[in-house]
Amino acid sequence: MKKVYLIGFMGCGKSAIGKRLSFATKMPYYDMDHEIEKKMGMTISEIFSTYGEEAFREMETEFLRTFRNEYCIIATGGGVPMRKENREIMRRTGLVFFLNAPFRDVWRRIATLKKRPIVQASTRAQLEKLFYVRKPLYMYSAHFKVETEKRSIHDITDYIA
Ligand code: S3P
Repeated sequence: MKKVYLIGFMGCGKSAIGKRLSFATKMPYYDMDHEIEKKMGMTISEIFSTYGEEAFREMETEFLRTFRNEYCIIATGGGVPMRKENREIMRRTGLVFFLNAPFRDVWRRIATLKKRPIVQASTRAQLEKLFYVRKPLYMYSAHFKVETEKRSIHDITDYIA
């Protein structure tokens, strides 16, 4: 059995849906950001400010290269599909689901949270631009595109399961 990867922009619901999907399918759930934080003993913001974004991107790739568990659900960080190697590993080792949410929904969810360094360092307009730059790469990486607009977590989870 392969892994299930959830991909998409920050705030699209990867963690919430991943946890619920884990409950519904009995597959173990892993949050990539959380696994990197545990390994480093630092928050994502601390990793960005201490080592820089490029080092964090390398940690994400290293996680994908070395994570051996089969039959599990992985909520990826929003920037993971930007690297070709990451896309190739995910598509080779699992089923990739892109959670497609409109920008206004993700903005509503991420604007006030202080834990994401990219959000902290950007204006709304810059994030919206990043959203549209990334979207084709999410589409390109995914085996399945899942529409999340106006759907409950329960409904989305049932659909993926
Ligand atoms: C990032 C998304 C974050 C986290 C980091 C960078 C991004 O994960 O990996 O702050 O570049 O989109 P979430 O998508 O889980 O918020």
